[in-house]
Amino acid sequence: VLKAISPQDMAGKKVMVTLGPTREPWDAVRFWSNPSSGTMGACMAVAAWLRGADVTVVSGPVSLDFHSGIKQVRVQTAQQMFDAATDLWPDMDLACCTAAVADYRPVPHGADKFKKSGADSGLTVEFNNNPDILRTLGERKAEAQRLMGFAAETSSCREEAERKLAAKNLDLIACNRIDREGSGFAVTTNEMFVLDAHGRREQWPNLKKTEVAWRLWDHLLLS
Ligand code: CTP
Ligand code: CA
Repeated sequence: VLKAISPQDMAGKKVMVTLGPTREPWDAVRFWSNPSSGTMGACMAVAAWLRGADVTVVSGPVSLDFHSGIKQVRVQTAQQMFDAATDLWPDMDLACCTAAVADYRPVPHGADKFKKSGADSGLTVEFNNNPDILRTLGERKAEAQRLMGFAAETSSCREEAERKLAAKNLDLIACNRIDREGSGFAVTTNEMFVLDAHGRREQWPNLKKTEVAWRLWDHLLLS
């Protein structure tokens, strides 16, 4: 019903959205991850679909199912998300990376469950770097493609967003303060600072993520 009354201003566009956390295994039962629920990405995906786009979601482990009109590729690790997203990207018009990708993965302990030694010396785990998905999409961006990123910050939101917009070759970046109540992980609202590659800078009030998503696509389509 909503789709029938939505403007079909994204019809003919192929859109990819990355969402959710990634999960980096350490031993048979333990992993490194974060509390992302995939809500912002789901809002981006559904908004684009309502507006007529052909939408593919690359999702980390989240408890989300989409309308059958939205394709969902499920992955666990950052490397798997990287492989899926970079495979899909050449065929896309637009991409939006909302996923909270683990920047590092623990060096695996092995297939067995780690046993505590009984000593009081604690535990040190070593980490390796994960690939940066958004940066790679930016490096491989064709003339007609448009790329949107997010930034989750606890401080210096604006400076960091400026840096990431340029460093990752983005058309638009939306930055939220995850240390503010009602903004960030696993809540239904976000307070966004939005920057685009044409120099537009906007501070948005705290809005429902559904509303944020709609406005972000507006902004990207018009820029
Ligand atoms: N991102 C990504 N792949 C990664 C890390 C981040 O695609 N390995 C994307 C996120 O989906 C988001 C953007 O990059 O759209 C910014 O993520 P963020 O964690 O804020 O920035 P980082 O570049 O990882 O830097 P830092 O965590 O140090 O702030
Ligand atoms: Ca990061």
